[in-house]
Amino acid sequence: MPTTEIHAALRQAWDKASLRRLGRAFSDWTVNELTLGAGGPVRPPDFHARARALTRLKGTAANSPAWLRQLGAAGMHINHPAFMAQQVAAPIPLAAMIESAVATLNQSIAVWEMSPAAMLIDRQVLARCKKLFGYPATAEGSLTPGGSFANLTAMLAARAALAPRAWQTGAPNRIAILAGAQTHYSIARAAGIMGMGAACVFPIPTDASHRTNANAIPAVARRARKAGFRRFILVATCGSTPTGSLDDLEAFAAAARELNAWFHIDAAHGGGLMFSPRLRMRLRGIAKADSIAFDPHKMMFMPLAAGAVLVRNGRQLTGAFEQHAPYLFHPPSEAPRAVADVGPFTLACSQRFDALKIWMVWNAYGPQLFAALADATCATASAAFDYCQQSKLLTPLHRPDSNILCFGLRQSVPDADHVHWIIKEAVNATGRAYISSTVLDGRRCFRLVVMNPRSTVEHVARVLGTVERETRRVLRAKGEK
Ligand SMILES: Cc1ncc(COP(=O)(O)O)c(C=O)c1O
Repeated sequence: MPTTEIHAALRQAWDKASLRRLGRAFSDWTVNELTLGAGGPVRPPDFHARARALTRLKGTAANSPAWLRQLGAAGMHINHPAFMAQQVAAPIPLAAMIESAVATLNQSIAVWEMSPAAMLIDRQVLARCKKLFGYPATAEGSLTPGGSFANLTAMLAARAALAPRAWQTGAPNRIAILAGAQTHYSIARAAGIMGMGAACVFPIPTDASHRTNANAIPAVARRARKAGFRRFILVATCGSTPTGSLDDLEAFAAAARELNAWFHIDAAHGGGLMFSPRLRMRLRGIAKADSIAFDPHKMMFMPLAAGAVLVRNGRQLTGAFEQHAPYLFHPPSEAPRAVADVGPFTLACSQRFDALKIWMVWNAYGPQLFAALADATCATASAAFDYCQQSKLLTPLHRPDSNILCFGLRQSVPDADHVHWIIKEAVNATGRAYISSTVLDGRRCFRLVVMNPRSTVEHVARVLGTVERETRRVLRAKGEK
């Protein structure tokens, strides 16, 4: 490229006046989207045509605010109070807005010298998380890009503790993972990634309330022993992905002690309940875990991404990885540091400054905001349970432990799995509401996840009223009453 063209391209991309104009337009759009009401559709019925039209757009930087508006209008409005489908939060506005500062500073917090202030903030957030879960100051942790990374990191720390030679030799280690049947797939995926083989995961059955049945752990451990496994990682979940159920952590801790197992808690979803004086009792025993995975981007209502892993004995996390990288990491004897680098114990080399949004919100509004958000969303899920109990068409499949409710048709109908599926699709196609679906006890059902603290009882009535209306329509079309 000729030098004049290079200069012209750089001038255009770094032009201060036009960047200021764009910044103002983006921030107006951002505030509107973050404070969205229930007036428009959750997802527009013609979303597909709108999305295709977007991909054909050509233009200039000056057009980019218009593209952004079109992009927002074409897709799913996670911030809509009638979006009740998946564990993706309507983010706290301040947290979402600070994201552009994270990108602007673009500091990698892997090593102290690259980002001293960011690193201190990151460490302060981690120290607060340790306290939240009742861990000692000697625990160690890091933010991760989500719960799957946090679970993988915890499994690596567990393996390093149970089979210290595994990192170097990759030798078969005969470690079994005993985990509830509703455990998130990232645990089995971690076993696959680590070369332990997904077959080393032994499912523990759930009870009638969809919590993992802690009484069944000894029998599952016997089965694993029979298959040749000698060491165990025991995994509890708070709350589970399908139903938001909270395992009995005290019972799990006792079973882990009996088995001399590494005890991991996947609290990716429910960890945020710890902020609520009313709800935290439901996670009693969490401090007994050897490791905890927890997602601020779920019930702390942070925008994607913000996960975290904590290990009670800090040395066991720092021992999870081994690496040689003299261009980045230096032993403290060679380069003394005010704060130890986090890079040696994170999967990522470039480590995003995700702590900023958490720290900013925590400081601005206090932990009581996180308590309010957990209380509000769990109360809305309870209202959905009450609605289903009184409905002539719908029935709840469990009492919600947190902010997730599975429910289904009250009457039995032929081909029920398919009927549930097409009703869910019909509901979502209306644009009035958005729910998800899963399989519980072998049967397809509806699933509602309250991830917007501004979703109220009225929005629950709108969403479930839409499910009832579409149910009537689908059943009439099938000749059912
Ligand atoms: C219980 C549980 N663990 C882990 C994960 C994975 O988290 P992430 O999507 O942040 O990777 C999920 C995701 O829904 C989950 O529900």
